[in-house]
Formats: sequence, structure tokens, C-alpha cells
Amino acid sequence: MNQELIVGLDIGTTKVCAVVGEVRDNQVEVVGVGTAPTGGGLRKSVVVNIDSTVKAIRKAVEEAETMAGCEIRSVYTGVAGAHIQGQNSHGVIVIKEREVTPAEVDRVIDSARLMVSIPSDRSVIHTLVQDFLIDGQDGIRDPVGIHGVRLECRVHIVTAAVNALNNIVKCANRAGLEVNGIALQSLATGEAVLTDEEKALGVALVDLGGGTTDLAVFAGNSLRYSSVIPVGGNNLTNDIAVGLQTSLQNAEQLKKDYGCCLNALLGLEESIEIPGLGGRKARNMSRRELAEIIHLRLSELLGLISKEIQKAGAANPVLAGAVISGGSAQIAGLAELVDETLYLPTRLGYPKVSGGLTDVIHDPAYATGVGLVLYGYRMQQEAGPGRPRSRKTRGSRVGLWGRLKNWFQEVV
Ligand SMILES: Nc1ncnc2c1ncn2[C@@H]1O[C@H](COP(=O)(O)OP(=O)(O)OP(=O)(O)O)[C@@H](O)[C@H]1O
Ligand SMILES: [Mg+2]
Repeated sequence: MNQELIVGLDIGTTKVCAVVGEVRDNQVEVVGVGTAPTGGGLRKSVVVNIDSTVKAIRKAVEEAETMAGCEIRSVYTGVAGAHIQGQNSHGVIVIKEREVTPAEVDRVIDSARLMVSIPSDRSVIHTLVQDFLIDGQDGIRDPVGIHGVRLECRVHIVTAAVNALNNIVKCANRAGLEVNGIALQSLATGEAVLTDEEKALGVALVDLGGGTTDLAVFAGNSLRYSSVIPVGGNNLTNDIAVGLQTSLQNAEQLKKDYGCCLNALLGLEESIEIPGLGGRKARNMSRRELAEIIHLRLSELLGLISKEIQKAGAANPVLAGAVISGGSAQIAGLAELVDETLYLPTRLGYPKVSGGLTDVIHDPAYATGVGLVLYGYRMQQEAGPGRPRSRKTRGSRVGLWGRLKNWFQEVV
């Protein structure tokens, strides 16, 4: 494969999506996209059937290869699911020569990581530096060369179940792909949909997918809080099927064609046809009834998100807004509902990249796939060709590369 190509592989609950990015003049352009339904391979963002997942990966990758005219051998992929845990930690060391060295930066980050005990069935996927403090002065992004006595570091540590990670790597390998790196899905999504200003001021990113809703709170240019709620668009489909007594397939179609939140109706009293179950006659019903079912479940979900944001609030008192991405973000009126419920100015998160396929990927369901390409690009830039390994452990995504490599050797 051309070295200038970076591939993101989003293995989601409902679909696998492969996105090929080409680096031109330090800019990533999308040159190929492929998607395939996961076909029951995942449940709530976790692999539950290897064969179905491998099949979907192969299909999505083949489609992306055809579109991009390339052969895909390695990918950056993501992980999500209720097994993901994010926690903040804090490390302190004494500065030996009164001036911070790169090795000391590595050491203080390691000390922050060691403050958290990680059980053997879990693995650290990210140690994200929030900021450094020197002699109590906080908000330092790059402490190297600064004089002081005491160096502190605040980090956000994300861990995942080793088995869940194992299964992702196994599926990719069986589909003939090498895994360059695994990112928390919502971190990757943030790369694709958030502006630098939002990340600096404070933003809640909500990825409303099929199986899960992933929350990531960014502030001060780094991830402050992350959590995964095991409820997604599939639950909406299920509620509609039960509530309107129709099949899951019909419910999914009704949701996509007519689904909206109550606020989006605004007096629109449209009648829709509900196909009957098992050969029963179709019925007509007000669109409001469909909206009520969707509204109820989404309000409940937003209540949970609000609680999670409050938990994040201890570290981040003020957020400037919220961004909603994922396939379910397309439900009409959702941004307004989120705005009203979370009291945050809200917008939809469409992936932002240039290139000929921007209109194809102008869909919040592609945000994670595109984000994985951008994440991969950032990883490659941070690692740099021939940079010594200790240098790679500096910066905001500390030690990920080295740890992943070790981890792959352990688990593959
Ligand atoms: N136009 C639409 N209106 C409402 N819902 C939609 C629309 N288009 C897609 N969806 C829903 O979006 C969900 C899929 O979103 P997405 O592709 O982001 O999920 P995923 O990445 O496969 O799953 P997850 O991230 O939860 O593992 C499905 O539940 C689907 O019904
Ligand atoms: Mg997803």
C-alpha cells in the first residue's frame, strides 16, 4: 500500500466502515469509503460473532479498495462498549536538574499511570495528558526546559477489557489486516467533528450510534471525561416495533423515513402507514405517535447523558456546547431536544475533511471512520520517522504506540 494512505476501520454495532485517507500537502483527503452491515457480529459495540464481523470487514474493505484503487493491508481501528472505563489520575516527581527534561516528562506520566491499579483483564488504551504543573503552576502544555522543583501531571486514563480488544484484533487479522493502533471510538470521532476552539473551551461530544451512546467531554484541548451508555438507535427501533406492533425491519424504516422528536412536528399532524405483523393488515396512524415513542426514549437517554456530564463537571465546570454525531443524530429535531435538555447550544457533527468524497461522507455515521483516519495521521506525525522511542511517549497521547505494540505482541 502507498505509504501516504491511512485507513480507518470503524467496527460499529450496525455497520463496518472503512475509510481511506490520502495525505497531500499535510492535509488528509478521503479517497475511498466502504461500508457493510455487521449482520449481528457485534452487540452494544462489542464483538459477539467473529465470522460475521470478519465477513463485514472484508466487504467494507474491498469496497473501499475499489473506490480508492489501492490494496489495504493495515488499519487504525476503534473500541467502544460498556467495558470501557475512563478515569483521571495525577502524578508527581521531583525535577532533578531544576529544568524539566523529556525523560522527566515520560517519568511523571508513568507515575500518574501507576497511581491507578489496572487489573490483569484490562488494558490501558490511552494515557491522555490534560496538563502539567510546575511548582503548582497549572495549565502547562509543554514543560520541557522550564525551571522548577516539582513536576506534576494530570492525565485521563482509558482502559478496556483485554478480551474485547483481543476480539477486535482477531477479526481484523482474520480479514487479512494488520492493526496499527486502536483508539477509543469517541476520541477518534472528536478528531473528525470538533473544532479546536470547541476542544479548548469545553464541549460534550455525544456519539449516538446503533448499539451504544458514547460521551466524551473535552476541555482545555484534551479529553476530560469519557463514558459509554449501552443504549443506541437499535433501542429506538425496538421500542417502535413493540409500540406500533410491527417488525423490526419495518420499525427501522419508519424511524428513518418519519422518525422525529416531538418538537420537530410543530403542529404537523401527518398520517403514516404502519405495515402489520405476520400478514396482518396495515394501519394508519398519526406521525405524532411515532414521535412520542422516539421522544420518550431519547429523553430518557439524555437524562443519563446529563448525569454523566454532571459527573464530568467536577473537573470541568463550564461547557460551551454539545455536538451530536453517529447515525442516530439524523433524527429530526434531536439537536433542539439536546439543546433544551442539556442547556447547551448543540449542533450535529459531520466529519470535516477535504477531497472529492466530501459529499459521500457528509453523514454523522461516518464520523468515527473518518476520525480514525485523522487519529492515525496524528499518531504517525507524533511518532515521526526514525524518532527515538522515548520521544514518541511525549505529547498528548502518551506511550500509546509503544504500549500497543507490546500489547499486540502479547495478545495476537
Ligand atoms: N436517518 C436516520 N434517522 C434515524 N436514525 C438513523 C438514520 N440513519 C441511521 N440511523 C440509525 O443510526 C444507527 C446506526 O448509527 P451508526 O452507524 O453511527 O452506528 P454504529 O457505529 O454501527 O454503532 P455503534 O457506534 O453504536 O457501535 C442505527 O440505529 C440506525 O437506525
Ligand atoms: Mg459507531
